[in-house]
Amino acid sequence: MLIRSAEFVVSNQDVSKCPSSNLPEYAFIGRSNVGKSSLINMLTGRKSLAKTSGRPGKTQLINHFLINKSWHLVDLPGYGYARVSKKAKKTFQKFITSYFEKRSQLVSAFVLIDIRHEPQQIDLDFLTWLGQNHIPFAIVFTKADKLKPKTIDQHVDAYMQVLSQIWEPLPDYFITSSSKRTGRKELLAYIDAINTDLNLNQE
Ligand code: GTP
Ligand code: MG
Repeated sequence: MLIRSAEFVVSNQDVSKCPSSNLPEYAFIGRSNVGKSSLINMLTGRKSLAKTSGRPGKTQLINHFLINKSWHLVDLPGYGYARVSKKAKKTFQKFITSYFEKRSQLVSAFVLIDIRHEPQQIDLDFLTWLGQNHIPFAIVFTKADKLKPKTIDQHVDAYMQVLSQIWEPLPDYFITSSSKRTGRKELLAYIDAINTDLNLNQE
């Protein structure tokens, strides 16, 4: 799929204020600093469409981006950021949770997992929560440029092995690197196939 246009639409903390159009949307979620905003920039080919930072906790709002004037990408705050206060964490969790529970335009979530690490409980809990709430998702492993190809395969196998204990059938997954643009074609093709299924008239 060619990205012909990518524009920022709106940021907010309240799911009821998200765009009211019925365009299908795809949301990026995962631990703070995992690379959600970088991935959105990589996919759209726009260097600073979504704001990124080396410090966790950069994205604090629900951000909508309109792609090819026909569908939305959504950049969300990360979960599991230890340095915010308990109260801030609760507010965060609340609006992220209500985004997933209430946003009927959401077609699929992409849950980002840093490929370097062992499976983390917070991610497994979040995947379980998505499942319990019947929210479709695919997994996106990030920062693949940080590992050798052989190690990438080992880490992915180990992750899917752990997931198979709580999940059936296993979700689709992608291996990506925003710095090397790995996985771009595959992810865009995945979204394109869903949009085509939805009979979306794309520009
Ligand atoms: P929050 O908004 O804080 O939740 O973070 P985020 O998940 O949006 O992460 P962001 O895209 O801001 O990236 C966090 C850091 O990881 C930045 O320093 C990025 O440059 C780096 N990063 C993101 N993707 C990659 C990648 O594919 N490879 C490498 N090497 N670094 C990456
Ligand atoms: Mg971000």
